[in-house]
Amino acid sequence: MAQAFAADEVDAVYRAIHERRDMRHFAGGEVAPDVLRRLLEAAHHAPSVGFMQPWRFIRVRGQALRQSLHDTVERERVLTARALGQREDEFMRLKVQGLLDAAELLVVTLADGREKHIFGRRTLPQMDLASASCAIQNLWLAARAEGLGMGWVSLFDPAEVSVLLGLPDDAEPIALLCLGPVHDFYEEPMLQRERWARREPLSALVFDECWGRAADLFADGPSINPSLVEPT
Ligand SMILES: Cc1cc2nc3c(=O)[nH]c(=O)nc-3n(C[C@H](O)[C@H](O)[C@H](O)COP(=O)(O)O)c2cc1C
Repeated sequence: MAQAFAADEVDAVYRAIHERRDMRHFAGGEVAPDVLRRLLEAAHHAPSVGFMQPWRFIRVRGQALRQSLHDTVERERVLTARALGQREDEFMRLKVQGLLDAAELLVVTLADGREKHIFGRRTLPQMDLASASCAIQNLWLAARAEGLGMGWVSLFDPAEVSVLLGLPDDAEPIALLCLGPVHDFYEEPMLQRERWARREPLSALVFDECWGRAADLFADGPSINPSLVEPT
């Protein structure tokens, strides 16, 4: 294809996608300012509905604020466990955040004043969240390519986080991003390794024509490079 990247560049894109992991174990250290700027630039080049660019990033600098955010997450972790009922103990054994160990902690929020953005959101207002999620995914992939791990933590009460960070009323925190050097990347999603959940077969999620009709595309099996398939 005339507009395609060179073959090794294509491989690198797929490699970043397949080897990106949600990380909860970090090796301390630091993220060089140049690298952090590049990662935020990558985030800022994400698509967004009506080009509204609803993402805002707050870099947490002080230990006291980081500890307060950690405490918020820990409170929510316990409430989540309770809400899970039968799986409470299993959930409590999972590691679901690395707030105190990651080199950098970034909070991503949705901007204030979003109601004036109607383009693409009149019937689907949640497209602001979808757009900010694209930015986070860009950051995540770029971080993986730079050899840095990232974890998205959403176990928190947004009202508590808003107060801690002095957010305007109509802004909304959506992610605490733990970012930094790691010893190793997990070979497969940690929740899969811990047998909490498994990746669904793609063929069960792609339909032809209408809901539920199996797609022809997968009749011969997946077209993925076998070296990228996760261990079973
Ligand atoms: C919107 C969103 C919120 C998430 N929140 C959390 C979280 O609070 N704690 C956590 O451990 N993982 C969280 N994750 C990470 C998922 O658990 C992880 O993406 C999933 O298990 C698949 O693993 P992988 O990202 O390594 O492929 C979140 C991921 C997304 C996309």
